Amino acid sequence: MHKDVKRIIYTESELAARAKDIGKKISADFAGQEVVLFGILSGSVIFLADVMRNIDIDCTIDFIDVKSYIGTVSGEPRFTKELSNDIEGKNVILVEDILDTGKTLAFVKKAVLAQNPKTVKICTLLNKKIEKSADVQADYIGFDVDNVFVVGYGLDYSQKYRNLPYIAEIKEEAITD
Ligand code: IMP
Ligand code: MG
Repeated sequence: MHKDVKRIIYTESELAARAKDIGKKISADFAGQEVVLFGILSGSVIFLADVMRNIDIDCTIDFIDVKSYIGTVSGEPRFTKELSNDIEGKNVILVEDILDTGKTLAFVKKAVLAQNPKTVKICTLLNKKIEKSADVQADYIGFDVDNVFVVGYGLDYSQKYRNLPYIAEIKEEAITD
């Protein structure tokens, strides 16, 4: 276990099992159709890679990057990597690492809807049990989690810990701000 980890919340095998279930569910829900998985960088990459390998219908992927901080000042979210594919008429599934307030996904969903996709769904590995912005309920959820800060399996603290194969809470002394 990493020295900064206080406790493991979801193990590698629990995460693999959920990614498998979600991949199967997406395949069943869109049977006979095609889906576009839209990963929100960088936290979603590991989850997206695991889910997509459990999808057995036609599937493409794309990534977008959203920043809501300029330095340390919180501002309105903006894209730092735009949508690069034409999504008009497509079944889009937004893939996120963690749905917290929903501010990020509300912004992304609005931009995606402006391009007239056929459907837009939200798939999140973790869903924090707190109130969300309107209109961003997740359709596919890995796990509902308490409102604690978690890292690993793509999620970071100051860009660190994304490589941990499990989801964990880190020790207070490892948090420096
Ligand atoms: P929202 O816009 O409030 O829903 O925030 C979502 C974003 O905040 C996620 O994409 C994460 O990048 C980040 N975030 C929120 N909670 C955590 C956490 O517990 N660990 C790591 N990142 C988090
Ligand atoms: Mg994120």
